[in-house]
Amino acid sequence: MRTAVLSDIHANIQALEAVLKDSREQGADRFWMLGDYIDYGGSPVETMERLETFDISQMIAGNHDACLYLESVRSSATPHGRKAYEFTRAVVRENRRRFSMLETIVHRPMAYIPECGTLLVHGTPEDPYWGKFQAGDDPEDLFHAMEERDVRLMLMGHSHTSFLLTKDGRRIINPGSVGQPRDGCPEASYVILDGDTVIFRRVKYDIGGAADAIQKAGLPEYLWQRLYTGR
Ligand SMILES: [Fe+2]
Repeated sequence: MRTAVLSDIHANIQALEAVLKDSREQGADRFWMLGDYIDYGGSPVETMERLETFDISQMIAGNHDACLYLESVRSSATPHGRKAYEFTRAVVRENRRRFSMLETIVHRPMAYIPECGTLLVHGTPEDPYWGKFQAGDDPEDLFHAMEERDVRLMLMGHSHTSFLLTKDGRRIINPGSVGQPRDGCPEASYVILDGDTVIFRRVKYDIGGAADAIQKAGLPEYLWQRLYTGR
């Protein structure tokens, strides 16, 4: 079985389409999703509609998804983050049924799969919505949390940067971001798991189309310009 692990799509339908095409070509037959399906990008409705067209085995919520429904998850945002949130919230309110899939998972930022000792978490086990761990940070606390929970593999999103860390047979993987990479490479990022093999994939996509959608939504320049630089 080949599992495609996708995170942080952020309403970028162009990037999602490219990743789905690539993952099918790579033989992926199972999909695990690590949250932040919408917000920042200009195509929240299209993104949620597309996610309903195929079978997703595991789907957890990110902070951006939960913020739309749960007061307790909201946090202060930058001015452009605030603008994006207001746009997305208005779209969700006008198209509530289109987002019902999201509504059912917002209380679920973490999922444990006992048969393979795998933990999916958007942020970190201690702070599943907002906890940010990036490549270069000290992973000791994360490995300790894995030991306590008998986790062999932890899949995490949120930082929009891809990495793989190993210790004593345990592994931590971040597949990077499908729709808003921030590691200096603008190509969409995701991972394929095939047994013990981890394949990091980068996929070119129609960045111009994604940038247009953000402009049409009336969102700040910063949000589409960063797609071109992957920052
Ligand atoms: Fe995100």
